[in-house]
Amino acid sequence: MSKIFRALRALALGLLTVSLAAQVTSFQPGQPWLDTEGKHINAHGFNVIRHEGVYYWYGSQKIPGLNESQKNEAGVSCYSSTDLLNWKNHGLVFSVNAEGQHEDIAKAGILDRPKVFFHPPTKKFVMHFKLYPPHAAGDTKGTDVAYVGTASSFAPLGPFAYEGKYTGAESPKGSGDFGIYQDHKGDFWHIAVRKPDKKLVCGQLRPDGLRPESSYSEMKGITAATEAPVVFSRKGHLYLLGSGSTGWNPNPARIFVADQITGPWTSLGNPAEGINPHNHLGPEKAFGGQSTFVIPSPWKDDEWIAMFDIWNPADPVKAGYIWLPLRFENDKPLIRWETEWKPRKSTP
Ligand code: DGJ
Repeated sequence: MSKIFRALRALALGLLTVSLAAQVTSFQPGQPWLDTEGKHINAHGFNVIRHEGVYYWYGSQKIPGLNESQKNEAGVSCYSSTDLLNWKNHGLVFSVNAEGQHEDIAKAGILDRPKVFFHPPTKKFVMHFKLYPPHAAGDTKGTDVAYVGTASSFAPLGPFAYEGKYTGAESPKGSGDFGIYQDHKGDFWHIAVRKPDKKLVCGQLRPDGLRPESSYSEMKGITAATEAPVVFSRKGHLYLLGSGSTGWNPNPARIFVADQITGPWTSLGNPAEGINPHNHLGPEKAFGGQSTFVIPSPWKDDEWIAMFDIWNPADPVKAGYIWLPLRFENDKPLIRWETEWKPRKSTP
């Protein structure tokens, strides 16, 4: 092989590596978000946790070529990052098709909105997810029970082992969208849309983190049919960010405040401001997204990052993401559209 050819080949390989590993230096909400291998991040209805200095993003891995009316989830995938911008794909940490997988999972119609948290008492990573039986896929008709499935692992990257399912919300019909909240005492709560009345309810989890204790309370003051809930705390108050209930179509975001999880909750209206120039949608459609999670900003005091999915029911694998700063101005929460933003340090 000639020296020139070898040099050209090395240059080409070098360029390829650089382009595959191109650093992400800013958040660009609503734009394709590529992982460290240059592939679109495939982890929807997700949450993000920080453990020992590393962030983990868990979400449903959608299967290319299948739409949201089909059984289109391969399981739960995980990505890791140290800066929240550049994400390495670790593939499926909980797989529908794993050898010997329980038939609840292998035959699931919907395996959606996974939420993973580190559970100090058992030192396990615990996952809860919407688990609907086969013929509920993409369809809420019928007599199905909408379960919550659980899985656990001693390592953040799994593999997660199925831990069975429960019927949430103390309702024989189960529950829909949900969040998991850890309170200041360290107790975990399942916050869920009760079926069929769509009231938001909360139930404390058992000491093993895998099931609710027996009773749930209504979260008084939360508008009925609030979906995609996520609770976070600030200055002794609790905030709940959520959406309305319009299937895969976007609707306005809504935010509430309370002093305790059972309420009473007070509406603070729609926190969104501005227009997403990529789809021309503003607060009336949550910029085209639906809330999924909120984390504290690692860069700025009293600031959070609000995270949304942009659903794409015809081609779910291409569904996108919106991450935006959530700030408080005179105690009013605001999620203002930014086409591009960078991590910002607190000013002293
Ligand atoms: C809205 C929910 O938030 C999503 O997780 C999904 O279940 C769709 N509805 C289904 O229509």
